[in-house]
Amino acid sequence: MNIVLLGLPGAGKGTQAKKMSQEYNLPHIATGDIFRQAIREETPLGKEAKKYLDSGELVPDEITIGIVRERIQKDDCDNGFILDGFPRTLNQARALTGMLEDMGRKIDVALYIKVKEEELIKRLSGRRVCQECGAAYHVVYNPPKEEGICDLCKGKLIQRSDDKEETVKNRIRINKEKMEDLIEYYRNQGNLKTVESTGGIDEVFNKIQEIIGAGV
Ligand code: AP5
Ligand code: ZN
Repeated sequence: MNIVLLGLPGAGKGTQAKKMSQEYNLPHIATGDIFRQAIREETPLGKEAKKYLDSGELVPDEITIGIVRERIQKDDCDNGFILDGFPRTLNQARALTGMLEDMGRKIDVALYIKVKEEELIKRLSGRRVCQECGAAYHVVYNPPKEEGICDLCKGKLIQRSDDKEETVKNRIRINKEKMEDLIEYYRNQGNLKTVESTGGIDEVFNKIQEIIGAGV
């Protein structure tokens, strides 16, 4: 099953994608994670992407589309994938449809995780991520067992550089209008599903499982 997760910054795409990836045994492909890893490793891609991530701007489509095209052709995507943070523009959505068509495939579900803007800001400002494995926590909603330490790998928890208040507002603004276009695009394709992200992480995951059901 080929799934895309849509949602504004902080909606919980990464959190839910990790749970879905385990439950359905599908690879979790997050363009944001790919860029952050490249930045950590100081690769040419990382050097190019850094300026965009730091300010919350979008990395140019031609770079992002190329990365996804290459990634979804890998063997581990044969049974499907969960795309998190891509597509983010209509251009990316059309390119994704085209590359899947070339492979004789299509998107089965575009799952929009809907959250109010005030809540997004609360979620992002309280988010802490593991420096080692990238796991996300929240100081109030999903605290680690030991303050500042990752439950999974004991790595140190830090605040993402783009989770500063000013950058958060910029990211939401930049993505908002584009999100409307994407919702419309997938609604027209007939595969849009919406999940209201009220309630905690597990409650949202239960709602997602009801939507995806046994369709995997
Ligand atoms: P990316 O990493 O994709 O960031 P984003 O879209 O801004 O999304 P986030 O990772 O911030 O949020 P999320 O929805 O995954 O929320 P999370 O699960 O962590 O992209 C970063 C940058 O990379 C972009 O700004 C851009 O520069 C570039 N980029 C990436 N993709 C691109 C593309 N396609 N094109 C161009 N540029 C691209 O949850 C947030 C917090 O809330 C956590 O603390 C979590 O614990 C908590 N939480 C989650 N769910 C709940 C819940 N139900 N209740 C309470 N708390 C919750
Ligand atoms: Zn960790």
